[in-house]
Amino acid sequence: MQIFIDSADHKEIKKWLDCGIADGVTTNPSIMLKDGVYDMEAGAREIAALINPRPLSVEVTTNDLSGMLAQAREFASWAPNMVVKIPVLNQDGVPCLEVIRVLAEDGIKVNATALLSFGQVVLAAKAGAAYASIFAGRVADEGHDAPGLIRKAVAWLTRWGYATKVIVGSIRGVIDIQEAAAAGAHVVTIPPPMLQKMADHRYTRDTVRGFVSDAAKALEKLAEKRS
Ligand code: E4P
Repeated sequence: MQIFIDSADHKEIKKWLDCGIADGVTTNPSIMLKDGVYDMEAGAREIAALINPRPLSVEVTTNDLSGMLAQAREFASWAPNMVVKIPVLNQDGVPCLEVIRVLAEDGIKVNATALLSFGQVVLAAKAGAAYASIFAGRVADEGHDAPGLIRKAVAWLTRWGYATKVIVGSIRGVIDIQEAAAAGAHVVTIPPPMLQKMADHRYTRDTVRGFVSDAAKALEKLAEKRS
């Protein structure tokens, strides 16, 4: 399973890259805004260079289908590792599947995003998306079973031999990461604070504190013995 960093924060991306954890990065317009990346092109170019050759997903910002195509082509020209996020539907409920198909046929990698149902995953894969992003937190917000959806989606893609990879996003807690991993997600995209929480354990800290303190005591004893 791959781990992507769900962030536009350069420092955090670098930190997890240096830890050997980051296989890629995903963003969306809300993440860019939150992380202070107001110039999308400059921000995306910088992150793409930092993580190259790992993939960076950047989302189109228009609701208009031909505008999406033009924007996607522009984003793809920014770096060789760019992946363009296309929502499966626009805000008016118009499917963006043709945009996905045309881009895929042009050799541009598409991350079909904002997927909340099994049917949407099926359509995104058939249209040619390289990635299908299931928003687990939002699925759960509506009272549905996110791990069940992930399991079903991965099984269906495998059964029919699709190359589309399921990215699980919209992570709200460490349990969501673990459940997505257990459900067979190809990729989980994780906000940096959640990675920190995933690594942490109070008892591990206490355990290490005990070892460090005993190592210091042993050195004191050694010093006493030698004096
Ligand atoms: C990642 O690809 C998604 O854009 C992101 O995880 C969405 O998270 P949210 O549902 O918390 O906005």
